[in-house]
Amino acid sequence: MKLLVTGGAGFIGSAVVRLAISRGHEIVNVDALTYAACLDNVAEAAKSPCYAFEQVDIRDREALDAVFEKHKPDAVMHLAAESHVDRSIDAPGDFIETNITGTFNMLEAARKYWVAAGKPESFRFHHISTDEVFGSLGAEGQFTEETPYDPRSPYSASKAASDHLVRAWHETYGLPVVLTNCSNNYGPYHFPEKLIPVVILKALAGQPLPIYGDGSNVRDWLYVEDHADALLLVVEKGEIGRGYNIGGENERSNLELVNTLCAILDEKRPKNAGSYSDQITFVTDRPGHDARYAIDPARIREELGWRPSVTVEEGLEKTVQWYLDNPEWWQALQDRHGVGERLGVKA
Ligand SMILES: NC(=O)c1ccc[n+]([C@@H]2O[C@H](COP(=O)([O-])OP(=O)(O)OC[C@H]3O[C@@H](n4cnc5c(N)ncnc54)[C@H](O)[C@@H]3O)[C@@H](O)[C@H]2O)c1
Repeated sequence: MKLLVTGGAGFIGSAVVRLAISRGHEIVNVDALTYAACLDNVAEAAKSPCYAFEQVDIRDREALDAVFEKHKPDAVMHLAAESHVDRSIDAPGDFIETNITGTFNMLEAARKYWVAAGKPESFRFHHISTDEVFGSLGAEGQFTEETPYDPRSPYSASKAASDHLVRAWHETYGLPVVLTNCSNNYGPYHFPEKLIPVVILKALAGQPLPIYGDGSNVRDWLYVEDHADALLLVVEKGEIGRGYNIGGENERSNLELVNTLCAILDEKRPKNAGSYSDQITFVTDRPGHDARYAIDPARIREELGWRPSVTVEEGLEKTVQWYLDNPEWWQALQDRHGVGERLGVKA
């Protein structure tokens, strides 16, 4: 398949690009190269004759039309987004423009291309979204595909809006869409502003490990390469118009997660004295911090036969090892705007 992947220089998009190229797909990577992008993430895949790159901003409709016209993809996998909740609190406008208007532009460019091609039923517009659109859970329950939307941050509200647009373009114009909503990802090439790389890199630097609030917020963690595998399955086999929740069934409180990372580091790179967990520091909570997310992945498991390939323990161990082995990757990103600073406390 020829896949037009947006955001393919980001964390999850690059995992999709690497996996798709390894499976013999053709890739057109469309990415504006914002602060969150890193083309090194796809350096090996980019050597393939099946790979093409277009530096295009999804807010630029004309440029998108030209990309569709030039590359004639079989399917779109739309991942480009502003993705950091703390940044969405400080600068929500960027999230409205990229996540909502950018998705609108993608839908319109895809629709124009699809109509001109005679509305082939084999075409797919796969919209990649988050479990954060469902809001916050109490101690019990899980998000299913039927859970009502209840986004609570500028980031999740902008993603929820984009999900609604995608469903509307299917209902109104018949565009063959599929949607996925996934839990928190982790793994290699995770940008060093997100919790897991922040903890690993601050631990190694001997700095305080910041935990928001009391560390009781629960997230459901999925290894990024398992997410990429699920996404390729959905774009190929998912039913038109259907949404699929993707999760690892690996719930951890932030405090448990940070303690696990510290224990792995204690094993792999012991300190002269004490444990990395001695560096844990509790800081002011994020405004509107959702208490718990948990995904019920029964639909994708039962209908498409997908399961994660690694446990969270294996995935975290592989992730820590990757950061220990690749300092040149993360050192190059640490002076980018806002990285290493506490963001999202202005509210
Ligand atoms: N990270 C997670 O845990 C998670 C979980 C579920 C869903 N998602 C969703 O998956 C997608 C990818 O997330 P990620 O963590 O890889 O994000 P990321 O921030 O690592 O990467 C986003 C990529 O999109 C590009 N981009 C941003 N604005 C753009 C624009 N206007 N035009 C073109 N390209 C632009 C960036 O340059 C970057 O390469 C997002 O849609 C996100 O909402 C993420």
